[in-house]
Amino acid sequence: MSTLIKSGRIVTAEQDYTADIYIEREKITTIGADLSVAADAVFDAGGKYVIPGGIDVHTHMDMPLGGTTSSDDFETGTRAAAFGGTTCIIDFATQAKGQKMREALDVWWKKGEKSTVDYGLHMIITDLPDAHLEDMNDMVREGLTSFKLFMAYPGVLMVDDATIFRAMRQTGSNGALVCMHAENGGVIDLLVRKALAEGKTAPIYHALTRPATAEGEAVNRAIALAQMAGAPVYIVHVSSADALERVSEARDRGIPVFAETCPQYLLLSIEELERPDFEGAKFVFTPPLREKWHQERLWKGLKNNTLQVVSTDHCPFCFKEQKELGRGSFAKIPNGGPGVENRLQLLFHHGVNLKRISLNRWVELVSTAPAKMFGLYPRKGTIAVGSDADLVIWDPEAEHTISARTHHMRVDYSMFEGFRVKGNAERVFSRGALIVDGSTWLGKPGRGAFIRRGTYAGAWG
Ligand code: URP
Ligand code: ZN
Ligand code: ZN
Repeated sequence: MSTLIKSGRIVTAEQDYTADIYIEREKITTIGADLSVAADAVFDAGGKYVIPGGIDVHTHMDMPLGGTTSSDDFETGTRAAAFGGTTCIIDFATQAKGQKMREALDVWWKKGEKSTVDYGLHMIITDLPDAHLEDMNDMVREGLTSFKLFMAYPGVLMVDDATIFRAMRQTGSNGALVCMHAENGGVIDLLVRKALAEGKTAPIYHALTRPATAEGEAVNRAIALAQMAGAPVYIVHVSSADALERVSEARDRGIPVFAETCPQYLLLSIEELERPDFEGAKFVFTPPLREKWHQERLWKGLKNNTLQVVSTDHCPFCFKEQKELGRGSFAKIPNGGPGVENRLQLLFHHGVNLKRISLNRWVELVSTAPAKMFGLYPRKGTIAVGSDADLVIWDPEAEHTISARTHHMRVDYSMFEGFRVKGNAERVFSRGALIVDGSTWLGKPGRGAFIRRGTYAGAWG
């Protein structure tokens, strides 16, 4: 099967030019002006951008959390991702306490069999006795080259500093990357107990018991631990200026610290949790939404490269019957929100259209930098001969209003309901196969492959 995409404006992290792209056997084989080649399928991209498919390195499909399970599985979640121009995700396999990482990996491989686009996995470590340290090397050999550790959620996912330090020493030697959920879980736990004892049960107290200082402190500690261990660290879902400043200071000192933020922290603020009729629960995720002034600081961080990646932390729970589990106590609201479908649209509209970031930087943030950071580059994350033909024909003029009534995520609300955005994926190709054609779904569960990723050290030397 061969495909020719004609006359598109090809936009990568570094380039912007008009050419044709020829695809054979899932790969890009030729790029050039006015190619005269025979193709089984020809698509006209005149007047449109052609970009490398989006890579969302932070999703939680089919994830058990808070007494329930996230409402998108690998089939529905990756389908929604593709409609929004994302052709690869990195999800999180979770090691239960006492469980071998290998067993957790088998569980997530099974879940991933339904994926419609390519996917990788990080491993969440909840338990790391000496006997399991070698498991981390085993995971790296399997292509899981990043590990997430939690400084929050005591009793569930949180690990102590010694465990973090030991994991980092291991990644310092095996070339993998520790991804850190940085919030001071012990302090937050006390604040939560105090609030509940005072009868403060509404969703807003989720945010009020998780102050930005608790995020800044944990980021600082994570960086210090990484420095002592001689390893890089990647801070996930940065939500506040406090956390951002710690990252910025460390990078200025030449410490290999990297960080991502998510559209919700760039565009939404704490007031959302005060919505009446318990609707604030729709915005309960961790870290929480902050006061509005933090947003411009995060945008600046994206512009000046203190933040390198925009992911979604897609972890959807329906309002009905899932978020509602916490009607009597904010601490019982399952933590997480939906977003995998809207990342490129929101960042394009609020970033590129509103002139906060350039077109090239947009591609870098949603595709190229995630690919480089997590060992997928140059197979993915760029448009080059030899790369996978994960491509998006992007219509910069297409306008639509984001709504749960029309989105493809399996969740009964949108965090961005009513947001009007200009710019959307028109056609999406996964390794050369057309999987989204306007509003038509052509993809299939099981077509997405598990990708064995290279190491952070391999990507950054
Ligand atoms: O609230 C969130 N973010 N849920 C997903 C788990 C995590 O902390 O990333
Ligand atoms: Zn997290
Ligand atoms: Zn997450």
